[in-house]
Amino acid sequence: MLVLGLESSCDDCSAAVVEETAAGPVLRSLVRESQDGIHGPFGGVVPELAAREHLLQVRTVMAGALEQAGVALSDLDRVAVTRGPGLVGSLLATFSASKAVAWREGLPWVGVHHLLGHLNAARFAAPDLPFPALVLLVSGGHTHLYLAKDWISLQLLQKTRDDAAGEAFDKTARMLNLGYPGGPLVDACAQASPRAADAFTPPKFRDGRASWSFSGLKTGVKLRVERNPRLAEAGAADPEVQGLCRSLQEAISTWLLKPLPDLARERGARSLVISGGVACNTRLRADAAVLAAREGLRLAIPESRLCTDNGAMIAAAGALLLPDMDPWIQNADADLKLGA
Ligand code: KG4
Ligand code: ZN
Repeated sequence: MLVLGLESSCDDCSAAVVEETAAGPVLRSLVRESQDGIHGPFGGVVPELAAREHLLQVRTVMAGALEQAGVALSDLDRVAVTRGPGLVGSLLATFSASKAVAWREGLPWVGVHHLLGHLNAARFAAPDLPFPALVLLVSGGHTHLYLAKDWISLQLLQKTRDDAAGEAFDKTARMLNLGYPGGPLVDACAQASPRAADAFTPPKFRDGRASWSFSGLKTGVKLRVERNPRLAEAGAADPEVQGLCRSLQEAISTWLLKPLPDLARERGARSLVISGGVACNTRLRADAAVLAAREGLRLAIPESRLCTDNGAMIAAAGALLLPDMDPWIQNADADLKLGA
């Protein structure tokens, strides 16, 4: 089965052709147009600009994905698209395009929850993953932990009490004037540092539960920059900036992974999936490998281009879902709930 997957929930416009085989999904093509140049000067995604840019990008990414895969629209067996959650103006670009393609070609159509997409990104490298799985989805908008009993059902176990982990990376990069998006830049800086700066103090919660909060990190970085204003101008090659990035990255990775061993035992998890943009982080990937080996969990972290938002993960999830009988009355949902 050949599936065209489309995704435009935030600031990446992406299309992919995925072939669903008996052995799992095979990536036939993946095209992504970045909008970093547009949002960079603002230090974050501007929804209006993102929506307009998606309208200009959607046809190019679709045509590119078909061409790269060497297939025509008429060769497809299904169209899958992100239904939500996300920025509604952004979602609508690929959502409308998917309906047009389904109408034109008479193709089955399926709307996919964005987070089911992130989970299914792991299916390319680990189609035989043992369940139940702990699923850590960590991006610019999400820091959520789920229990999955299969590839299409997620049960929420816990989520951040405030900011997403990706936000801590992006805001830090902004305070240090490193650029946008911050995650990859902080990651590169941290790797260049032989030694971390002082550790950040982990948050404590009144109810004593192992939980997540990342907003304090923002304040922590802000205070360090106020005490040492040189940091804001020193740039990525500066050893002190690099040390600060390294301690930030160590804190985020350690805090993210801390609740996992207990929950894995409690829930009888056999595997651990980490996906979403922050799953590209080198430190998190290395720490997760150590944890998984220690706890006897099979680890599945998609390759980096499949961790960030992309059409391939939507196609892979869409291949497992039942198509909607009547796509024409469907709409994108900025606040889509899982299981809806
Ligand atoms: O999944 P994604 O592409 O979009 C959202 O749904 O948010 O994730 C984007 C986030 C951004 O916050 C970006 O800074 C972060 O993922 N990110 C990283 C790395 N690469 C991307 N964070 C840490 N280390 C990285 N290497
Ligand atoms: Zn995402």
